[in-house]
Order: sequence, then C-alpha cells, then structure tokens
Amino acid sequence: MRIYMEADYDGMSRRAANLISAEVIRKPDCVLGLATGSTPVGTYKQMVAWHQHGDFSFKEVRSVNLDEYRGLAPTHDQSYRYFMQTNFFDHIDILPENTNVPDGLAADPEAECARYDQLIRSLGYADLQLLGMGRNGHIGFNEPGKNFVKETHVVDLAESTIDANARFFAARDDVPRQAFTMGIGCIMAARRILLLVSGADKADAAYNAFCGPITPECPGSILQLHNDVVLVGDKAALSKLVDAGVKVSE
Ligand code: F6R
Repeated sequence: MRIYMEADYDGMSRRAANLISAEVIRKPDCVLGLATGSTPVGTYKQMVAWHQHGDFSFKEVRSVNLDEYRGLAPTHDQSYRYFMQTNFFDHIDILPENTNVPDGLAADPEAECARYDQLIRSLGYADLQLLGMGRNGHIGFNEPGKNFVKETHVVDLAESTIDANARFFAARDDVPRQAFTMGIGCIMAARRILLLVSGADKADAAYNAFCGPITPECPGSILQLHNDVVLVGDKAALSKLVDAGVKVSE
C-alpha cells in the first residue's frame, strides 16, 4: 500500500485528481467506481478543470457509484445521483448512459440490488474505486456490524452516520434511514482502490482501518487485504498513522 500525505484538503484533492486522471489517460474506457460526500468534492472540481482545459476526455469512461439513499429521487438535491450530476457529470463529456447510481426509488429493493451487482459484474468491476470513509470506518454505506456483506444490499444507516450527514439536510429527521450500497465484495474486486481521508475527525478511522484488526466492526479494515490500495490524506487525518510509525510519501 502507498500512502500519500498532503498538507491540506487542496493537496489531497490534487493528488487524488492526478491519480484518477492518470487512469483515464492510461485506459480511456476504464470503469471508475465513484464516491460522494464532502471528501471528494475538491477532487471532482480539479478533474473538471483539467478536462475543461482539454487535458483528457471521459467519453469512453463508464462509472458505477457506491451508494444511494433509499427513498430519494434522482432529482432530490441530497440524492447521490444529484450530487454526481452537479459536482461532476454535468461538467464533463461522460455519456449519461455510461453513468450508474443505484435507483433510490426502486419499488423492489432486492431486484435493484441484484440488478446493480449484475451491472458491475458485466462491466468487469472497477479499474479504480474511489472511496471516502466514515468516522465509524464505513466504506460505501457498509456500516460496522457482525459480518462483511459481499453484495449490493439495503443497509440501515448507523445513528452516527445520520448525525454526520444531517449537515446536508434541513433537519436530522429528513435524513433517510436506509441506503443502497455496493457490498464489500464488489469494492474489493476493484483492481485499484483510492481512499481519501481529510480532517482530524477521520484520524481514528484511518488508524483503526490500517493499524487495527481486520474486522467488520471497522469495515475499512478489509482494505488491508487488497493488494493495490492508495491512501491519500491530509496531515490531520493521517496524524495517528504517522505517530504509529507507518511510512508515508509526501
Ligand atoms: C459516499 C460514501 C461514504 C462517504 C463517507 C465519508 O458515497 O460512500 O462512505 O465516503 O461517509 O463522507 P464525507 O466525505 O462526507 O466525510
């Protein structure tokens, strides 16, 4: 595993954008696994700027997002489909039909999970999977629990996740209680994983994921078993890893 420690959020975003852009340039028809949340916003912004500058194209890229709130329409301003459109897809030349996010309004959730897994399989899994991590160690919306769930599933969001995401909604009660999430199996099947962490409130999660035991109580810890993980973080988020003597590149 390679760890890049950047001074701050902007440095993290630039490094991440570089790594994703390199993948798109190397393999124009690559499959990108994408994430939402506040962590990758700067990464998308940087890639949009480079794309608009003419540096590279997303015309052949296919994308699969990690998750979507259950019950939110794609046009809801807190849905992850809406996030992807406004932060990324609307500003690049990716073909709409090549972008994939679980359908938050699916009438039959089990069928939607099966459809999403089949879709990811048919794309041959992600060449590069972008991840953020929750303060509780979640990746995608795979919350801490007794087991790692392999496939796409509907998850009850942890109270701490509802608390953390309430900042995006008018009231805590408006935060959906469930989400569709790609399972750990699909995430781990990606050929390369790029995990971003920013801010002191992620320092414990980063430490637990990479210095602690591999356990579903900290879903991110499964990444210790992947053979091509790149962790990019700012100093605040990586502070506990550095204190523990883990080697980082700057
Ligand atoms: C988002 C996702 C989540 C977030 C995590 C961190 O698609 O899968 O795992 O990456 O909740 O969120 P932020 O970046 O808002 O701290």
